[in-house]
Amino acid sequence: MAEPRPIAPATGRLGVLTPGLGAVASTFIAGVLSARRGLTVPVGSLSQLAHIRLGERHEGRNPLIRDFVPIAGLDQLVFGGWDPISANALEAARTAGVLEERDLGPISGELEGVTAMDAVFDQTWVKRLDGTRVKTAAGKWAQAEALIADIERFRTENECDRLVMVWCGSTEAYQEVSDVHLSVAAFEQGLRDDDPNISPSQIYAYAALVSGVPFANGAPNLSVDIPAMRELAATRGVPIAGKDFKTGQTLMKTILAPGLKSRMLGLRGWYSTNILGNRDGEVLDDPENFKTKEVSKLGVLDTILQPEVYGDLYGNIDHVVRINYYPPRGDNKEGWDNIDIFGWMGYPMQIKVNFLCRDSILAAPIVLDLALFMDLAARAGQSGVQEWLSFYFKSPQAGGPSPAEHDIFIQQTKLKNTLRAWMGEDPVTHAEDD
Ligand SMILES: NC(=O)c1ccc[n+]([C@@H]2O[C@H](COP(=O)([O-])OP(=O)(O)OC[C@H]3O[C@@H](n4cnc5c(N)ncnc54)[C@H](O)[C@@H]3O)[C@@H](O)[C@H]2O)c1
Repeated sequence: MAEPRPIAPATGRLGVLTPGLGAVASTFIAGVLSARRGLTVPVGSLSQLAHIRLGERHEGRNPLIRDFVPIAGLDQLVFGGWDPISANALEAARTAGVLEERDLGPISGELEGVTAMDAVFDQTWVKRLDGTRVKTAAGKWAQAEALIADIERFRTENECDRLVMVWCGSTEAYQEVSDVHLSVAAFEQGLRDDDPNISPSQIYAYAALVSGVPFANGAPNLSVDIPAMRELAATRGVPIAGKDFKTGQTLMKTILAPGLKSRMLGLRGWYSTNILGNRDGEVLDDPENFKTKEVSKLGVLDTILQPEVYGDLYGNIDHVVRINYYPPRGDNKEGWDNIDIFGWMGYPMQIKVNFLCRDSILAAPIVLDLALFMDLAARAGQSGVQEWLSFYFKSPQAGGPSPAEHDIFIQQTKLKNTLRAWMGEDPVTHAEDD
């Protein structure tokens, strides 16, 4: 058995800060408040519901993850956030329309108490939104300083021992890495010069890391996926993770594709289309914002199917992803997948998936798990990209030169084996006698 790592205990209060207090963030907060009162079960959360096998099968050791690793309890969480539109989490939840009044009622006072701080917002990056609750600080450097001051104020006022930040804000317009993103020095100069290539989410990420706060990115924006933020995370000793919560159609894709590949069935094409009518859908209706999402969604199949290794099976795939904004659906997205596969002697077959999902219901437990596991990572002395949390992302950031794993089953094994290793337990390999 390996030596357990020293991990500081999860004492005191953990503040969870979300830039973006929209559908996902408000559903997450409401779910935690409701679970705390015993009104609902935190379905979808590994940190709350999953067990982890330890040792050999015959030992019968299978504790809950939350009893095995020292993560903060739900009662220890305090919530805060920024939003250019929503005033507080109750208003955000009502606007989003994900949860019904019967669920919001018992916790409405607490939700209303989670007020949004004024946002660092720039419409250039989200053309479809018109934000009014916006910081007036002139220039990006001053905006970063204002966020750092918000973070410290929140920490003090809420008597938090530690904080984590999870980006739940809108998807920003597509951008590629540019010179200003290449080092901390270049980025800080860019903040002073108001460089147009620095997006609001990067200013939040910078403020978080400078304040020693782990940052996880739920949208496909670059945010912490740039060399400057990796450098900052390393020098400040802070964990980062991203990007883009793995929910809905991509979740299905990363469940199905590994299964097809495990049986060496071929794939000729995968056509995915969606309708959704929430604010996220409205933002993604703009081609520049959709492009950011599209890149994130398209990367999934190649990494799982390895066309460079399995040319006969996966060397010629048409992969198309569409998102259509359709207001009547609200947050209740509907996704259709048409999957053209082929089998023995090349004979074609088709699979149709029609997933009537609720986006924020799938995303909320991911926010919870990321907040708790990022805090655990910080207390375990981890810094930089937390690749073991790839399980939660559509477009996982890699910690090293190799691309991160997309196959959800490998990702789950990696997550659990990382926890086992930190706690001094042997990895479970599922080898014949294991
Ligand atoms: N719901 C899912 O299943 C899912 C999955 C993957 C990724 N995401 C991403 O998560 C994010 C949140 O999704 P949502 O459904 O809650 O969207 P939403 O539109 O309901 O909420 C996003 C909120 O962010 C706010 N915002 C925009 N720019 C901001 C800024 N600069 N600072 C602070 N707040 C800002 C908006 O005003 C809005 O209230 C989106 O980027 C979405 O693409 C969601």
